Amino acid sequence: MTELHLWLRHEARTTERRTPVVPDDARRLVENGVALTVEDSPQRVFPIEEYEAAGCRVAPAGSWVSAPRDAVVLGLKELPGEPAELTHRHVFFGHAYKGQPQAAGLLRRFAAGGGALFDLEYLVDDSGRRLAAFGFWAGYLGAALAVLQHRGRLRAPLTPTTKEALDETLKPAADDAGFTGLVIGALGRSGRGARTAFATAGADPTCWDLAETRDLDRRALLEHDVMVNAVLATSPVPPFLREQDLDTADRRLRTLCDVTCDVGSPLNVLPVYDETTDWDEPVRRLREHPPLDLIAIDNLPSLLPLESSADFSAALLPHLLDFGVTGPWGRCLDRFRQACREHGLDNGEIHDH
Ligand SMILES: NC(=O)c1ccc[n+]([C@@H]2O[C@H](COP(=O)([O-])OP(=O)(O)OC[C@H]3O[C@@H](n4cnc5c(N)ncnc54)[C@H](O)[C@@H]3O)[C@@H](O)[C@H]2O)c1
Repeated sequence: MTELHLWLRHEARTTERRTPVVPDDARRLVENGVALTVEDSPQRVFPIEEYEAAGCRVAPAGSWVSAPRDAVVLGLKELPGEPAELTHRHVFFGHAYKGQPQAAGLLRRFAAGGGALFDLEYLVDDSGRRLAAFGFWAGYLGAALAVLQHRGRLRAPLTPTTKEALDETLKPAADDAGFTGLVIGALGRSGRGARTAFATAGADPTCWDLAETRDLDRRALLEHDVMVNAVLATSPVPPFLREQDLDTADRRLRTLCDVTCDVGSPLNVLPVYDETTDWDEPVRRLREHPPLDLIAIDNLPSLLPLESSADFSAALLPHLLDFGVTGPWGRCLDRFRQACREHGLDNGEIHDH
């Protein structure tokens, strides 16, 4: 059996401090016979020395492009725009299977190079349950930011922090007015995170999941001050909010946080905005009278890089130790091939690695 060679890349996005493998788990991989190369990265929350001490080889940032062909390149978020041809097997969140605007371009690069995408969003068990996800922390941060904004205490730009420091800002002050919160997708990972953050902030939100949105009551939705959308949409449903709902005269909703961020996708349940917000400008005003503020940040867990990396890495580790083309990884590969076919790309056959 050939040795598995994993190549942990530097993240192209400068605000991305998370990593899918933390140094303690890197050590476990090395101890189990995996060759692990780790790219140096100026922003990763764990210094490269910790990986080196765990027995990893070190390589310069971005050097995966010339990594041996059999290396499996591991990352989290988008690849840089070059090279045009992707020859390796890549493990990351590609965001390319839901009709997103950048999907075709990415799949074309894989098809051109004969590489393959093992999309972490599709690493699932036999019953389709995600095996490694950042959802909890996404929801936690989404609700936390929404509450801070609602209380007039959100300061931009946002910067990575620790849970301890964040929780300190979430504690209700004596003069804070009460508010009503709503979490949609409340039974999921993000939903659980959102509920936990609301609780830290002293609030007890209304919780909706599939059963409560089947026959959607938009008036009831608009009666909440703060709403966090944390659904994982897998098939189109009527939107939770439409433009005209924002103009409802007695709308109580003031702060809307869309953790899902499916903007641009046909599955989007909140087609009331067309661009996400970011750390520099986390809030966009959608309406003035009465005010309605939107937070739609697609890299929320990066704001708690330590906690979210540690959780994710712990969940991913057993599957990295078992990397192959069957089981969950086989399902990832099948999904990739299906997406290529849907785009009319003659990938199907990845190079023999
Ligand atoms: N913004 C970010 O930084 C960030 C980070 C991680 C995940 N996410 C996104 O957050 C979303 C949720 O992820 P998760 O890990 O919590 O997923 P999950 O599968 O754990 O939970 C999703 C929940 O949504 C519910 N749901 C699905 N459709 C619904 C509907 N029509 N009405 C009501 N409830 C519905 C499901 O029943 C489930 O309980 C995903 O879209 C994911 O991509 C965003």
